[in-house]
Amino acid sequence: MRHYNSSVSAVRIVLLGPPGAGKGSLALLCEQRLGLAHLSTGEIFRQEIARRSVLGRRVQRYVAAGRLVPDALVVQVMASRLGAMKVRRGFVLDGFPRTQGQAAGLDQVLDRKRKPIDGAVYVTSPEALLVRRLCGRRVCSRCGANYHLRTMRPKHAGVCDHCGGSLMTRKDDQPATIRKRLALDHRTAKPLLTYYKNTGRLSTVDGRGHIETVFQRTLTLFRHRGWIDGRHDRTQVHARN
Ligand code: AP5
Repeated sequence: MRHYNSSVSAVRIVLLGPPGAGKGSLALLCEQRLGLAHLSTGEIFRQEIARRSVLGRRVQRYVAAGRLVPDALVVQVMASRLGAMKVRRGFVLDGFPRTQGQAAGLDQVLDRKRKPIDGAVYVTSPEALLVRRLCGRRVCSRCGANYHLRTMRPKHAGVCDHCGGSLMTRKDDQPATIRKRLALDHRTAKPLLTYYKNTGRLSTVDGRGHIETVFQRTLTLFRHRGWIDGRHDRTQVHARN
């Protein structure tokens, strides 16, 4: 069920945070509840890899190993996707930018359109929780929907609620690759956060708790910043934990 509010002007937000912080889950709720377009670099890359496209072949080795795809290529891909995207109420980017270079590249692309990013929202979580989330994550092999073995279970084990596709473990959710991704995030996060902080656009959301709780915190922030108004979000997902 979708509840859009006609008073919302276009808002442009980037969701930042370590692997497993819940960026993808939150971005999906922003799409479903607020009508924001949602672009995820990780999702784009996984789809291109599955299609065995030229882009997919270029990024495959980085994604499988939990390494970052080079900045220039990521910015080029996102500039083209953003240009082609229909944005009525705004958008939320998930997993991009991930380095200071990507953030500067994104600013250049959007400055040319005179549609700058309104804010960067950093979703925080303790590392032990991130590891638990990533180890238990299952994704739909058909539509990409996210589940968790304990906290976001599908109605029928192993089957996607939305499209009936079978659920699988992401290749980069193996324990060794998870450790590598988290270590990489430690190195890249600080300069990225400093970039947004220095331009007065950084906010933080506590990513602990049920996804509905985290989403409500995010909505409170969005309202506080004037990105949406208070009549939004009349739906609730059912807590399972
Ligand atoms: P990407 O897909 O972006 O992976 P990531 O950043 O590592 O983030 P995740 O998708 O693992 O976590 P998330 O924060 O979205 O959490 P989620 O909502 O899924 O990127 C994959 C790869 O592509 C990268 O490693 C890199 O190689 C490449 N790449 C992508 N973008 C790039 C870029 N900009 N530059 C260079 N390379 C790039 O949640 C995780 C799990 O927890 C799920 O099971 C979910 O159900 C559960 N969960 C979430 N929130 C909660 C909650 N509050 N309570 C209970 N369970 C929860």
